[in-house]
Amino acid sequence: MPVPTPYFQSQDKDFTLYLGDTVEVCGGLSDNSVDCIFADPPYFLSKGFKIRTKNGYIREFDKGEWDKIRSRAEVHEFNSNWIAACRRVLKPSGTIWVSGTYHNIFDVATCLQEQGFKILNIIVWQKSDPPTTFTDQRFNFSAEYIIWARREEKTAHYFNYDLMKTLNGGVHMPDVWKIPATGLWEKTQGKHPTQKPLRLIYRIILACTRAGDTVLDPFAGSCTTGIAANLLNRRFIGIDQSEEYLRLGIRRKQEISDPTTAGKLLNKMRENPQEITVLVNHAKTNTRQHMIETGICYLRAGESQGSLQVTQGFDNMLYVLLHTNGEEAQLFKLKRKGTFQIWTKETLQAHGFNPEHSVYYIVLHFDPTPIPFPRHPNLRQRINTYRAKIRPLSDFIGLI
Ligand SMILES: C[S@@+](CC[C@H](N)C(=O)[O-])C[C@H]1O[C@@H](n2cnc3c(N)ncnc32)[C@H](O)[C@@H]1O
Repeated sequence: MPVPTPYFQSQDKDFTLYLGDTVEVCGGLSDNSVDCIFADPPYFLSKGFKIRTKNGYIREFDKGEWDKIRSRAEVHEFNSNWIAACRRVLKPSGTIWVSGTYHNIFDVATCLQEQGFKILNIIVWQKSDPPTTFTDQRFNFSAEYIIWARREEKTAHYFNYDLMKTLNGGVHMPDVWKIPATGLWEKTQGKHPTQKPLRLIYRIILACTRAGDTVLDPFAGSCTTGIAANLLNRRFIGIDQSEEYLRLGIRRKQEISDPTTAGKLLNKMRENPQEITVLVNHAKTNTRQHMIETGICYLRAGESQGSLQVTQGFDNMLYVLLHTNGEEAQLFKLKRKGTFQIWTKETLQAHGFNPEHSVYYIVLHFDPTPIPFPRHPNLRQRINTYRAKIRPLSDFIGLI
């Protein structure tokens, strides 16, 4: 097969797109050249008509010609062909992820096993905000399924067990992932009818690749996989037969060439309602030392500077990062996740502290053994340095 000409390649060569049929393009890519494949193929569920819902809305059940319902034999032939083409391109130690619903996922599993893949997990992506299914004949659809398989039965694959465990609060990450559907913040460059959320692909990429690895998406669409991959310093190859969708993907890539936008998107992508969080808390040197001696950390309760409102993220708080003016940061594990006490000034004084600013304080108890953490973000933000913040644990640990 001739080597295909890229439709687009970024200057850094980390984002390469091919326009055309996946089977044909893959035929021209090198054997054993990619570390991971994420595939979001047609689910073949578009019926090509509109329906009126119970509430009187007209709902489009047509994602496009590429998604039209096909016979079981046709679906099997389609899946067999693209999976075989992708398998050749995947390294022997590589893994593939394929998303779907009941319309295609059982056939995908059959094809993978027929072709020698070993299924590792079936991830249930539980949508935390599912749309309503307009029927009273069955349960509301609220999940999609993602098969994770390695290429070879006996060749070991890479799984970042420790990072997944850390992101899950120190407990083995389960195969049910509660992640919201694609948000408006990730559609600023236009819309794809079946765009996947960056937060989903973020976890997938971190689970099975290292920085510098190459990720292939054979049904790239708006290139969500490419954006997540590049934000995490992985290389990306995308294929799609639609020029319109690839143009959208290029605009998304251009958007993240601006470091400020890239940083914002990276932060949004890392936000996960289930992710373990860290209380980042400034304290004067003497107070910080006494906090570490006693395993007691406090901050004033209320609305003023330095206080902490009980906002999103508190439930999942399992660590505290103590620092003084942005320096000498140390990370500690809380005794109990997401819980705090309210103490009076007098109670803190009885424990040897000298609080000055408030009558009531939020108190958290922690294990005073410091936990090493590789990432030291800039904690100096002028006046905000002193304000307590809740940050995702991945700001400090992981993402290597
Ligand atoms: C489910 S969508 C992928 C959406 C993508 N994950 C995203 O986040 O934007 C499937 C894509 O596959 C493309 N497609 C369908 N059949 C194809 C084929 N035979 N070769 C290449 N692309 C194809 C469609 O144009 C569509 O964009």
